[in-house]
Amino acid sequence: MKGLFITFEGTEGSGKTTIIEHLYQQLIKEGYAVMKTREPGGSLISEQIRQVILDVNNKEMDALTEALLYAASRRQHLKEVIIPNLEKGYIVLCDRYVDSSLAYQGYARKIGIPKVYQINKFATDGKMPDLTFYIDVAPKIGLQRIKNNQRNQNRLDLEELSFHERVYKGYQKTAKMFFDRYRIIAGNRPIEAVIQDVMEEMTVFLRNHHEL
Ligand code: TYD
Repeated sequence: MKGLFITFEGTEGSGKTTIIEHLYQQLIKEGYAVMKTREPGGSLISEQIRQVILDVNNKEMDALTEALLYAASRRQHLKEVIIPNLEKGYIVLCDRYVDSSLAYQGYARKIGIPKVYQINKFATDGKMPDLTFYIDVAPKIGLQRIKNNQRNQNRLDLEELSFHERVYKGYQKTAKMFFDRYRIIAGNRPIEAVIQDVMEEMTVFLRNHHEL
């Protein structure tokens, strides 16, 4: 496939959305064909599944159901948005992907990382990112940022701190599993500094993919 598949991972309030927006604008300025998308969602059907997953009223949702819904939403998004854009040669910037399921459902919800990875390999035909930026911010700090920004809280934001601490640990495991495609960025700094580090890593990566 011609394009590049870049994902962004991190716990709540890590600043992914702002970082992606900046990187997106910068790459456009530099003349790259680039698009940004997000999970869960990113296509009409996937957004509908997202509503079910994140609805604060769905308190009874079973952990495996949750994992399967994320995987279903992901497959649709992959087929409808990610793959076609990669085939066109785009750089696809995606806010969350399989690693989120490994950290949240696999580790934090205690289904087990291998089991969730299995579901996701099935759902994605094994399609994994070329590069993953992990924005490392301790959950306590991230959650405080969300409170300060008064962003709407979804079903997962409402989990207690111990859940988010487990997500954080889960990411430490995925970072080890996939160390070759992970770029760990210290996120507890002014956003400008974080963005600059991401840009620099991206430039290095692109230099090695000059066919783009
Ligand atoms: P969202 O509002 O997009 O949060 P964020 O800006 O932090 O990405 O909500 C997505 C939520 O879904 C977030 O709490 C992380 C969670 N999630 C999973 O638990 N598993 C997954 O596979 C994905 C993609 C997201």
